[in-house]
Amino acid sequence: MPKVVILYDTLSGTTELLVKAVIEGLGTLEEVDLQLLKIGTKFSISTLANTDAIIVGSPSIYGDMTPQLRTVLTNLQNLVMSQKLVLGDIKGAVFGSYEWDGGWHVERIEELLVDIGIRLVAPPLAIVDHGGRLKIHPRDIEQCRDLGQNVAFSLRSG
Ligand SMILES: Cc1cc2nc3c(=O)[nH]c(=O)nc-3n(C[C@H](O)[C@H](O)[C@H](O)COP(=O)(O)O)c2cc1C
Repeated sequence: MPKVVILYDTLSGTTELLVKAVIEGLGTLEEVDLQLLKIGTKFSISTLANTDAIIVGSPSIYGDMTPQLRTVLTNLQNLVMSQKLVLGDIKGAVFGSYEWDGGWHVERIEELLVDIGIRLVAPPLAIVDHGGRLKIHPRDIEQCRDLGQNVAFSLRSG
């Protein structure tokens, strides 16, 4: 059964809405061992090395991923570079929400993943948070489902 980790941060719950849609997309896999790792909760960093796919989500905070997420990914990078953690062939995908700039933070996250050899299998997704009742446009929720489906497809096809 493929292992998938969703590593995400959220300050006010918007990214969590996107996580739910990504999970729906992953549901196209018959079986999946899914771990939801929210930044700030306790988990072992080696969980990030012991997976077939990692999907990372973050809000834009001052034009970047959240500082806590950056810390986790930089720590992972250091452990991989010093060969304390060995990554296998891990597939990756990145999504995030933002309100007023370009959502460039998803590219910063991708750079960190690619740097440690994670193979991206879906285009980065930066979703606009409109606030208020609409918050996330249904079309964008659909895009998050597609991202989950793309990861599922890549796991099926090896
Ligand atoms: C302290 C702070 C800084 C933010 N900085 C940016 C920013 O630089 N660019 C942007 O587009 N949105 C920015 N936002 C808006 C958030 O990215 C947006 O509201 C996001 O959807 C929040 O997601 P969350 O509820 O998962 O934390 C900022 C929000 C906060 C609270």
